[in-house]
Amino acid sequence: MNRALITGIMGQDGAYLAKLLLDKGYKVYGLLARRSTLSNWRLKYLGIENEIQLIEGDLTDLASLIRAIKTSKPMEIYNLGAQSFVATSWEQPILTAQTTGIGVLNLLEAIRLTDTSIKFYQASTSEMFGLIQEPIQSEKTPFHPRSPYGVAKLYGHWITINYRESFNMFTSCGILFNHESPLRGIEFVTRKVTDAVARIKIGKQKELRLGNIDAKRDWGFAGDYVEVMWLMLQQSKPDDYVVATGYTTTVREMCSIAFDHVGLDMDDHLVIDEKLYRPAEVEILLGNPSKAKEKLGWSSKTSLKNLITMMVDADLERVKKE
Ligand code: NAP
Ligand code: GDD
Repeated sequence: MNRALITGIMGQDGAYLAKLLLDKGYKVYGLLARRSTLSNWRLKYLGIENEIQLIEGDLTDLASLIRAIKTSKPMEIYNLGAQSFVATSWEQPILTAQTTGIGVLNLLEAIRLTDTSIKFYQASTSEMFGLIQEPIQSEKTPFHPRSPYGVAKLYGHWITINYRESFNMFTSCGILFNHESPLRGIEFVTRKVTDAVARIKIGKQKELRLGNIDAKRDWGFAGDYVEVMWLMLQQSKPDDYVVATGYTTTVREMCSIAFDHVGLDMDDHLVIDEKLYRPAEVEILLGNPSKAKEKLGWSSKTSLKNLITMMVDADLERVKKE
């Protein structure tokens, strides 16, 4: 039986990836960072909370990672754990560096010290392109991160490549562009919007405060994107891939899809709040997923309209039950 260890299993991607691997017959282990309250709502949402073996550990604690590998004996490790909210990375830059950057090194060292035959997936990000150096970003586009999060991820990206080149380890990076779902954290802009739209529709909220609505993102569906993580580790050679839809849309337009879906006028509820602007912004992201399509046979299946309406519908259900 295939065995996989997922860090960040309680997050959006961790939950979808765990479901995918269970459906493929894997035994799935998850690294559980200790919190005062267990937040397994995503695993429950997907009906898999009892099918996963959780192992206590933290990306900042090398010994716990070694123990987790010795307990789970995985063939594949997916490193999805991170402080992943860009805005928080200016408030907690050191924690972000330790978790999102050095955490990757800790995990690679744990593999190096235990079993170098383990295949490793690193959750790299389009945030590394930051101040974009090319209008459409591919695996060859130079990086220019714009946040402490982006800088930490860039370290994680290069150290993953370095361990591949130095120790002949099977390590691959997925440079994923933004991906969303009903399981997205409420602090990210799509879910903030779809949750607010549901609340406004039901009469529990009046306004929605946003920052820079001119920013553009290449948004896909997380359920589609976890498939590519698995595909990357099934190849004969490790490599790095951009994962994107190839379309970009403003926050404003994404927001209007959500309001239109429930028959509300966005202009009656949207308030721009300059406090939500970031110290340095990533104005636009647009990925070229040709390599993933050509080499992995993968392409994004869900349009932004279908994604946002799916999220609004899920939030309407949730808010009604509250
Ligand atoms: P997410 O929902 O924020 O999940 C991240 C997970 O990491 C959470 O379960 C979190 O646990 C865990 N974590 C945080 N600190 C940790 C630590 N010190 N040790 C162990 N686990 C820790 O993020 P996501 O959207 O699923 O994204 C998954 C990964 O892909 C992240 O690395 C993210 O940076 C990257 N990525 C995401 C996107 C995107 O658009 N979603 C795009 C590109 C790359 P707690 O919740 O308990 O803190
Ligand atoms: N979160 C948030 N809240 N963003 C807002 C708001 C707001 O009220 N108003 C405008 N925005 C803008 C942000 O300034 C940014 O330009 C855009 O909406 C998207 O913000 P987020 O949804 O927070 O995502 P992100 O692009 O910063 O980061 C996400 O994608 C990265 C991949 O490019 C995260 O998932 C990262 O972990 C991931 O690496």
